[in-house]
Amino acid sequence: MRQKIVAGNWKMNKNLDEAKELIKGIKKEVQAGLEDGTRVIIAPCFVNLHYAAKKTKKSTIEVAAQNMHQANSGAYTGEVSADMLTNLGVNIVILGHSERREYFGETDELLAQKVDAALENKLEVVFCFGELLEDRKSGNHFKVVENQLKKALFHLQEADFKNIILAYEPVWAIGTGETASPEQAQEIHAFVRELLTKKYGVETANAISILYGGSVKPANAKEIFSKPDVDGGLIGGAALKAEDFAAIIKSI
Ligand code: PGA
Repeated sequence: MRQKIVAGNWKMNKNLDEAKELIKGIKKEVQAGLEDGTRVIIAPCFVNLHYAAKKTKKSTIEVAAQNMHQANSGAYTGEVSADMLTNLGVNIVILGHSERREYFGETDELLAQKVDAALENKLEVVFCFGELLEDRKSGNHFKVVENQLKKALFHLQEADFKNIILAYEPVWAIGTGETASPEQAQEIHAFVRELLTKKYGVETANAISILYGGSVKPANAKEIFSKPDVDGGLIGGAALKAEDFAAIIKSI
C-alpha cells in the first residue's frame, strides 16, 4: 500500500517564536497519532529546523527542509548541505519547488545533482514538478511534466524510488487560490504513474506516493484526496494555521 502523506511547506514564513506556536498547535491537533498511518511532515525554514526536529522527535510529525545545496561542504556562502540536515535529525528535503525554479534559477539539471546528493546522504526527497499556466493553455502540460521528471529523476535506479515522494504542483495553482480540479490532478498523477511504470515497472510505480499541491484548503482537500492516484498533499498557505493543517490531514 502506498503511503498517505500530508506535508506543510511553510516557505519563508514564521520566525522562531511563531514556529514554536505553530508546532505546539500541530502537535496538539495530531498528538494521538494517525490510526491510518498517514505521514505528517512540516517544512519550516532552515533557521527553525533544529528547534522543529528536537520538538517533534518523540511525536509522529516529521521535519523536512525546503531546499539544500548539492555539494557536501565548501565555499558556498549562504548555503546548507545534506549532511548539515541529517546531523540535525532532518531526514527529508523538498527539492524542485516552483519558487526555487522561478526565483532562484534552479534547472532540472541542477535538481538532478541535488537529488543525487540528497539520496547519497540518506535523505528522502519530496520532488516537486508542474507546468506553468501557459503550458496548460497550450496543451503542453503532459510534455512539460514528462521532461521535468525525465531530466531530474530518470537517471535513478529503481531502488532509489523508495526514497522519493513526488509532488505535482501546477504553478498556476500555487498561492493563487485557484486549485486544479480533482480530475485535472488525477489525470496528471495517472500520467506520471504510467511514465514510472514504463521506466521502472508497475511495482515501483504503484509504490510511489504522488502528492498534489496548489491551494489545497480544508474545504477542497477531501475531494482532491479522494482520487485514486492522489496520495496526499503538499500544503502551503493552509499549513500555516494548525487547525487548517489538521483539518486537511483529517480529510485524507
Ligand atoms: P499553496 O502552496 O498551498 O499556498 O498554494 C503550495 C506549495 O507551494 O507547496
